[in-house]
Amino acid sequence: MTGFSYRGGVLNAESVPLPRIAEAVGTPVYVYSSAVLAERFERFRRALSGLDATICYALKANDALAVVRTLADLGAGADVVSEGELAIARAAGVPAQKTVFAGVGKSRAEMEAGIGAGILQFNVESLPELEALDQVARAMGRKAPVALRINPDVDARTHAKITTGKSENKFGVPIDEAMEAARRAVGCAGIDLVGLAVHIGSQLTDIEPFRAAFAKMVDLAMAVRAAGMPLKRLDLGGGLGLSYAEEAPPTPEAYGAMVKEVTRPLGLPLLFEPGRHLVGEAGMLLTRVLYVKAGRSRRFVIVDAGMNDLIRPTLYDAHHAMLPVAEPGEEDHLERVDVVGPICESGDVFAEQRPLPPVSSGALLAIGTAGAYGSVMASYYNARPPAAEVMVKGDRFAVIRPRATIEEMIGRDRLPEWLAPPKRSRSSA
Ligand code: LLP
Repeated sequence: MTGFSYRGGVLNAESVPLPRIAEAVGTPVYVYSSAVLAERFERFRRALSGLDATICYALKANDALAVVRTLADLGAGADVVSEGELAIARAAGVPAQKTVFAGVGKSRAEMEAGIGAGILQFNVESLPELEALDQVARAMGRKAPVALRINPDVDARTHAKITTGKSENKFGVPIDEAMEAARRAVGCAGIDLVGLAVHIGSQLTDIEPFRAAFAKMVDLAMAVRAAGMPLKRLDLGGGLGLSYAEEAPPTPEAYGAMVKEVTRPLGLPLLFEPGRHLVGEAGMLLTRVLYVKAGRSRRFVIVDAGMNDLIRPTLYDAHHAMLPVAEPGEEDHLERVDVVGPICESGDVFAEQRPLPPVSSGALLAIGTAGAYGSVMASYYNARPPAAEVMVKGDRFAVIRPRATIEEMIGRDRLPEWLAPPKRSRSSA
């Protein structure tokens, strides 16, 4: 993987040996490579060259300000799904005119924030949402630019929890109701219908579902246009998968070629919302082995990262590579171990029966392809402040999000007046 490689027997992020980061910052810690971010973005952009395409990075995959800024500096726009993500995109310097506000449940306050910022478009997912946005825009004396998100009823053939384009999923306007929804949008004084949008799921490893969904969208867009409703663009969403284990997802080039072929008859500007593809391989979660425990039937490697830091393995049965930071020797025999975290749940497992060279207490392990949907899904479960985050550039590194202290964690809470001030102990009464 570009960005992370063994040098002199030690795993490096670009030119920084990972043990140096572990010592300076502590573990667990997410480590991101600027070079991989840039390489991924540039390659995706090149794969779309020849198209009038706007790439709006989906912040939900990784919303660290430094990550968003790195991509924004390369020319990325933003796909945001909350007022918080909108604020991060703005703080990272993403122009409002390159920002899309998506999501199935925007509040009126979020609509106001988006209109106020002057964003490129709202992706609207239902008629009640359209009505609310129309009211909010009219109250502000504005017109909200809208792309209707369509549910094309195409199976993305990915994990059920990240499939979004089937009729039983909560997302989008059903495709057979799309024309009527477009008419409704055009009839709203506070709405400017600018396009159509689709996103059928995440971690797609097969190109055919994309092709099927995009073809349906092209037909629909042509029908909408023919009905006298001009469109400015078609938003094709994100979803391009990565190889976490053995998967062979389409390359950006194959994806780009397919998009060109399918959308040629339409001739509209396009918008993309990639998340995982741009950031997944740019990040690793660095963790230290606390104990190696020989169970009755299994060997457990207990590490200091937990499911509160990276929930993907337990939530989606996701596979993540497990790399010893000290390069394994050729003659090291592999043994099957369970790599587990310290959380009080049996599901706190990063890898089950994974062949690993012998590791002992104090060793460092890097959990691979953790740049997407890692830190953003972290929690304080078991009162564990989530992992710190570090970015590397060449031989430099910087903490881009420190780990919260225990004091900061407790400081988030307030006691109701009937419990405060703290009781004095009996002896001091
Ligand atoms: N656009 C929309 C409307 C989306 O819902 C998503 C992701 C994206 C773009 C970006 O998709 P990507 O290019 O990253 O596949 N937590 C899950 C993934 C959830 C994806 C949600 N939507 C995971 O860890 O696999």
